Amino acid sequence: MIRIYQEADYAAMSRRAAAVIAAEVIRNPACVLGLATGSTPIGAYEQLAAWNREGLLSFKEVRSVNLDEYKGLPGTHDQSYRYFMNTHLFDHVDIDPANTHVPDGLAADPAAECARYDDLVASMGYADLQLLGLGNNGHIGFNEPCDCFVRETHVVDLTQSTIDANARFFASAGDVPRQALTMGIGCIMAARWVLLIASGEAKAEALYRMICGPITPACPASILQLHGDVVVVGDRAALEKVVAAGVSVCE
Ligand code: GLP
Repeated sequence: MIRIYQEADYAAMSRRAAAVIAAEVIRNPACVLGLATGSTPIGAYEQLAAWNREGLLSFKEVRSVNLDEYKGLPGTHDQSYRYFMNTHLFDHVDIDPANTHVPDGLAADPAAECARYDDLVASMGYADLQLLGLGNNGHIGFNEPCDCFVRETHVVDLTQSTIDANARFFASAGDVPRQALTMGIGCIMAARWVLLIASGEAKAEALYRMICGPITPACPASILQLHGDVVVVGDRAALEKVVAAGVSVCE
């Protein structure tokens, strides 16, 4: 089942998303959070850091697993997802850095690293709550549109549309890594519940296909229709097509 919250704008979406994550952390202080990168979760992470500073929320016992990492980037690279997580969340909350996990983009044997990551996430009992952003092309993590859903953590060739979309973070499109290590659909679907966030009209078509379209690996996020417990938080622009299709949303 997918429960949809429509918010006015990015700020309201971020606050609602942070509240959903906080609900999990308050209910289960030793939870496993599946975390995401990209520009969309930044506001939610800022809100979580603020609540942590104010003493409303503690991450002391929380463990985290991130979805993905660029292949070939060290964690010290300012566009690596490890660096993103440190600078946008982990450095600002009381989480134990040893309890935070991101695939190793520099692993000498990427296939072995993918297998290690799957074993790690399984040993943690999978995520209690998995946070997801949404690619313009419907990707989740870096599970790109393709012919089949890939269950395991794997090395993926990024599509041109993803390279173009992420080029804004790099000096040029030529600097965007061509491959990434991503958690597969299996780990994502094994999460107890899922929070997907989306903001802006660039996401409207992908969000519509995810919620209203057929379940197909051509839109990887559509697999979430088969998950029993999904919350979508989107702003008006992102939800425009979904609302126009007559799908009911919570305000
Ligand atoms: C990136 C990440 C995804 C993210 C998506 C959207 O490539 N791998 O996890 O959800 O693209 O990014 P943004 O939030 O910047 O639009």
